[in-house]
Amino acid sequence: MKTEICKSEGINKACKLILDGELVAFPTETVYGLGANALDGNAVKKIFIAKERPQDNPLIIHLADFDDIFKVAREVPPIAFTLFEKYCPGPLTMILKKSESVPDEVTAGLDTVGVRFPSHPLAIQLIRGSAPIAAPSANLAKHISPTTASHVYEDLNGRISLIIDGGECSVGIESTIIDLTQTPPVLLRPGVITLEELSEICNAEKYTGTLDVALAPGMKYKHYAPRVPCVMRKTEMLTSEYELAVKNGKNPVIIATQQTIDSLLNRFNTLSLGENGVSAAHYLYSNLHLAESKYDYVILESMPETGVFFSVMNRAKKSSAE
Ligand code: TXA
Ligand code: MG
Repeated sequence: MKTEICKSEGINKACKLILDGELVAFPTETVYGLGANALDGNAVKKIFIAKERPQDNPLIIHLADFDDIFKVAREVPPIAFTLFEKYCPGPLTMILKKSESVPDEVTAGLDTVGVRFPSHPLAIQLIRGSAPIAAPSANLAKHISPTTASHVYEDLNGRISLIIDGGECSVGIESTIIDLTQTPPVLLRPGVITLEELSEICNAEKYTGTLDVALAPGMKYKHYAPRVPCVMRKTEMLTSEYELAVKNGKNPVIIATQQTIDSLLNRFNTLSLGENGVSAAHYLYSNLHLAESKYDYVILESMPETGVFFSVMNRAKKSSAE
């Protein structure tokens, strides 16, 4: 299969492919998604094949308009509307009781469904022009999520027919997932919308169960990993790890906050995460992609686990060997 890349001019073609039961990779504000018609089980199966994704890991359904939520969810509690008004379209996924019309391929047999309203204009056009779209991140399973169309191409070239290039994703890490089928709601995956914010609105709590149960099946998999070894080290251990790697014949790179990089005085290969949690989220995956293409050993700075940094660290831990 030849994989074509288009920009906004390809939207009509993309909508037709979705309606024909084919896959299209598309930009969202978080990461690129690999989309199929969420109401067509056979189309959704193709996502799992293209990504080599384990079958027990359910997909998020992407919608453009609030009223469409009733097509995929059978119970929509008032808090869903409150969260929609405050954060949507945006990087938030709500877990709700699923409706009959959602095929088991989407939910991996669960009685619940993840629903999200992406804000990228091309994602909205694609959904409005076709159908509710089931989409995981558009990378091979276990690899780093894509934040540009060329990241998608590297992983899925030859496996899908079309990639819509909408530029670099602004957020850079996947959406926050909140389970609204529990009382109080439970945060299943942190993102740039933080637990601190959500707990003020709806008493949301951190997920404390074991990761093996089916609550958020994706959380148990080690993923987001670059193709070269990646370790995480405290700020004060970065340079000794780097020197050890060089001694072992490696060409390492340090990925760290700008403040830390400034303190290293240009003596090392570095990639910056910027100055705060939001910038770190934006640069984490793009730096990991760059790092695996130019270097052979990645040393990630361990960051404070507060605010958005908490979410960045959640992904960074999954990228590193420990
Ligand atoms: O930002 C995002 O959420 C991106 C973009 C493309 O929208 N999508 C994304 O999808 O990150 P994916 O498949 O890579 O991650 C979805 C996560 C998985 O961990 C999955 O287990 C969880 O959502 N999930 C999906 N449906 C669920 C459900 N019904 N209950 C619990 N967890 C669910
Ligand atoms: Mg993913």
